[in-house]
Amino acid sequence: MDLKQIISHAKEYGFIYPSSEIYDGLAATYDYGPLGVELKNNIKNYWWKSMVHMHQNIVGLDAAIFMHPKTWKASGHVDAFNDPLIDNKDSKKRYRADVLIEDYISKIETKINKELAKAQKRFGESFDPQKYRKENTRVAGYIEKIESINSRMNTALSSGQLDDLKKLIEELGIACPVSGSKNWTEVRQFNLMFSTQLGNIAGDDGVLYLRPETAQGIFVNFLNVQKSSRAKIPFGIAQIGKAFRNEIIARQFIFRMREFEQMEMQFFVRPGDEMQWYDYWKNTRMHWHQALGTPIDHLRYHDHENLAHYANAAVDIQYRFPFGFKELEGIHSRTDFDLSQHQELSGKKLRYFDPEINESYVPYVIETSIGVDRMFLALLSEYLTEEEVPDTQEGATRTVFKIHPALAPVKCAVMPLLKNKPDLIAKAKALFDDLRLDFNCQYDEKDAIGRRYRRQDAIGTPFCVTIDFDSLEDQQVTVRERDALTQDRISIEQVASYIDQRVQLSTLLKK
Ligand code: GAP
Repeated sequence: MDLKQIISHAKEYGFIYPSSEIYDGLAATYDYGPLGVELKNNIKNYWWKSMVHMHQNIVGLDAAIFMHPKTWKASGHVDAFNDPLIDNKDSKKRYRADVLIEDYISKIETKINKELAKAQKRFGESFDPQKYRKENTRVAGYIEKIESINSRMNTALSSGQLDDLKKLIEELGIACPVSGSKNWTEVRQFNLMFSTQLGNIAGDDGVLYLRPETAQGIFVNFLNVQKSSRAKIPFGIAQIGKAFRNEIIARQFIFRMREFEQMEMQFFVRPGDEMQWYDYWKNTRMHWHQALGTPIDHLRYHDHENLAHYANAAVDIQYRFPFGFKELEGIHSRTDFDLSQHQELSGKKLRYFDPEINESYVPYVIETSIGVDRMFLALLSEYLTEEEVPDTQEGATRTVFKIHPALAPVKCAVMPLLKNKPDLIAKAKALFDDLRLDFNCQYDEKDAIGRRYRRQDAIGTPFCVTIDFDSLEDQQVTVRERDALTQDRISIEQVASYIDQRVQLSTLLKK
């Protein structure tokens, strides 16, 4: 499905609504509806269980959103958490300079893809796209152009040469998508932190920031947690919570929001061991995504060329969103930057005495960081599909959300075959009351059974249980499976365990 279809499906079925919609919405802010909150909780639960409960040396934390303002000076966010901003003087629209250039590159990529599609048609099965990329002069020229633009942009970004970014935009002839004009301001840095003011302190001393990442709550609590849980290095601290960024451009639905949620884990290691753990977490996190069934070629690693101010190695796990491969999760080797900075600004020691080597040091850190909302969008993008229904009249289609049953917002729907038969209804309701003690279930008696199945398919319910007239006699029900559309006839007593075996998170965690 394309992004537009996903957005409208998410709204229609109560996954995601635009925030404050009755006031025409607030850009880049969204509200999660009844099914959205269930799915979001399931994502968080999958992450928490696999990171915290499945690792003996990782513990959890829930730090406050507000932190002492010095935190953000120490972390570098006050001075360096900036995006390069440019305004168009005619439309008065504001853009990220690097995003304007990336959009230009995307257009060249589209041209390459068109050339490849044409050649594929012409040469058929013998077509080798890799060879064609190298040997076709037009395509090779496009690729060279992309490489040269990327290299100039990255140099300008890492050296802070904002003039060079402006020059590049002018040389490429990039126009404002709204006014069509090339009348640009200079490029300048824009800090992404939202600030607010403490009520009882006037002026700069009372300025507070909404945290732009959850990580710093972990760093400032490093010694508290290490001591209270008697943790030995290597060990990790995990946290899920809201983060806020004043993103200049907010688009692509819940991909880039101003208020979002992160699932972050900081893993503290002995200096010198960081690359070994960096590799471990790179693999472990990729595996977490693949366990859900996401195909290998829809996920990829992307090494950072521009390292953040705190990192000595960084890689993204990118997912193939409907608008291309984009960052889903980041894995960063953050060195001892954060703990050292907090030591310096707080004047408190944040060292660890390592009994194995009889030495005290500031630990190095490997971070894994993923946005809950971005993961949510990845799941909608991957598993929401439209397909022809097998074994029905030709052309009948259904929209089905083929999400892994362990993450599905509703695990099971209980349906009496007909709605005006008291015996059927009583039996169905009794089963529903029983099942909902264990799972999130729905009871549905409205409309023909086929339409009820379609409604459950659209929200990803893996099992529909139907009570028919035979059920009254033989105490058996029909369990219909969402993807294969198989129908199993089983005894009412077995329904709970039948579903349980198939929807438990343990089926994912064991992978
Ligand atoms: N502590 C490191 C950190 O915050 P990041 O790459 O800036 O690193 C980590 O963010 C993850 O948070 C991203 O991979 C993405 O999933 C999510 N994320 C970042 N900015 C976001 C935004 N504006 N909207 C939604 N998710 C965002």
